[in-house]
Amino acid sequence: MEKDINKELSSMFVIFGGTGDLTKRKLIPAIFSLMYENKLPENFTIVSIGRREKTNEQYREEMYEFAIKFCRFPLNDKLWRTFSKRIFYKNFDFTSDKEGYKDLDSFLINVETEYLTGGRRLYYLAVAPEFFEGIIRNLKNNNMVCMATGWQRIMVEKPFGSSLKTARILNHNISKLIPEEDIFRIDHYLGKEMIQNILAIRFGNSLFEPLWNANYIDNIQITSNELLGVENRGAYYEKAGILKDMLQNHLLQMLTMIAMEPPVDFDPESIRDEKVKVLRSLRPFTEESVKEDIVRGQYGEGIVNGIKAVGYRQEDRVSRESNTDTFIALKTYIDNFRWGGVPIYIRAGKRMDTKSTEIVIQFKKLAGINYYKEFNEIGHNLLVLKIQPEEGFFFQINAKKPGNDFKMEKVELDYCQSCKYVNDSPEAYERLLLEAIRNNSSLFTRWDELEHSWKFIESIEKGYESDISNYPNYAAGTPGPEEAINLIKKDGRQWWNTAPYKEI
Ligand code: BG6
Repeated sequence: MEKDINKELSSMFVIFGGTGDLTKRKLIPAIFSLMYENKLPENFTIVSIGRREKTNEQYREEMYEFAIKFCRFPLNDKLWRTFSKRIFYKNFDFTSDKEGYKDLDSFLINVETEYLTGGRRLYYLAVAPEFFEGIIRNLKNNNMVCMATGWQRIMVEKPFGSSLKTARILNHNISKLIPEEDIFRIDHYLGKEMIQNILAIRFGNSLFEPLWNANYIDNIQITSNELLGVENRGAYYEKAGILKDMLQNHLLQMLTMIAMEPPVDFDPESIRDEKVKVLRSLRPFTEESVKEDIVRGQYGEGIVNGIKAVGYRQEDRVSRESNTDTFIALKTYIDNFRWGGVPIYIRAGKRMDTKSTEIVIQFKKLAGINYYKEFNEIGHNLLVLKIQPEEGFFFQINAKKPGNDFKMEKVELDYCQSCKYVNDSPEAYERLLLEAIRNNSSLFTRWDELEHSWKFIESIEKGYESDISNYPNYAAGTPGPEEAINLIKKDGRQWWNTAPYKEI
């Protein structure tokens, strides 16, 4: 396997929340996969911090069980042994033990002296957001960031704040402690292969870019359907709902990638400058447009993939009278020259009938098309970017059906990238961790992106009525509330459901 190792990347991952779900399911498997692919420098270490007592050995064994399950490569025992020797567990209550940070620093210094990682530390805050500021403050007070040697970066998980106001306060407080360029705010969708591919497809094809505007595009649809419910995250989800769990971040990030202007170059700042312009041009909702253009939903019990699923209100740590949304469908606009008047339909839901994330670009029909009666039943040109579970894209065009009569038919040009490159697409977290040690912040959210997305969310929340009398309004395992279909139907359009793939 080709070596792709830059010695300067030798570094230490310091994970706060080392015994949490994210670390077990995503971070450790991702770091292992990077090593499997020779993407990691020879000198790297992982220090996982958790509040529970454990020895290094116990922790490594635990991680092994998860790596087997969640790694995209078969676990090679020899490689795992080499890998796991680099994992250290530090038991410490980072939420309340301020004094313990000194001890943590000595621990890190010992490990980095032995493994020559030279003060290059990537602190990963895989913890609840209320702990972000405290941890960063303690790191700062103990000179564990902005050090004289190496670099120290901080990766924070979403959600960043819970409203425009709290996000601003958090950002203000954090920015007094560390510079913006050392903060890597995660939106794991930016690490997905097909989200990266949006740039390639849009700007690498003379076929698309000239048509990528209101003159040729009728509407854009972004769908993110999940089969999963809220799992064991009821307490968090009660506060977030789909609005803050998906729309504020992943869905808006996909929209910015689809709608932005070509950046001057592929530098992080150029890309993020363009994305911010899209967010600034998003039309804010008003009380009237919330009523008119948004459909909210919550799942009741039902059957998902043949298995009985409880309703949201019956989930663990969820109120039996909860009015939290698990589904949203909306219509919005980007008020700028490129997109003036093009409706953008977005929908997302938990416990739906399929697992699929995709973006559909529906092109306008040619103006002269009605002159030919043979073309009456012609289909729409669609470009569908299949984000997951299948990766790829397809293009629907019209062609003549073979035969003596002149009849038209729709033809699908389907490219399945994940079939061609089986197991080759890195998991989002692999890419994000790697890009963070490479100091490529384009895959992370800049503060102004977040600020504008929170503004948009706030405009929606202002228009929401608090009493919802019809919840639950869709059964688990179905395509969501009926009203979501009407939302687009009343405009004379339809949702394109092009990927009825089941979760494997
Ligand atoms: C997370 C949300 O950010 O994204 C989850 O908190 C959601 O609720 C998940 O399930 C979806 O991610 P993916 O990669 O499975 O589409």
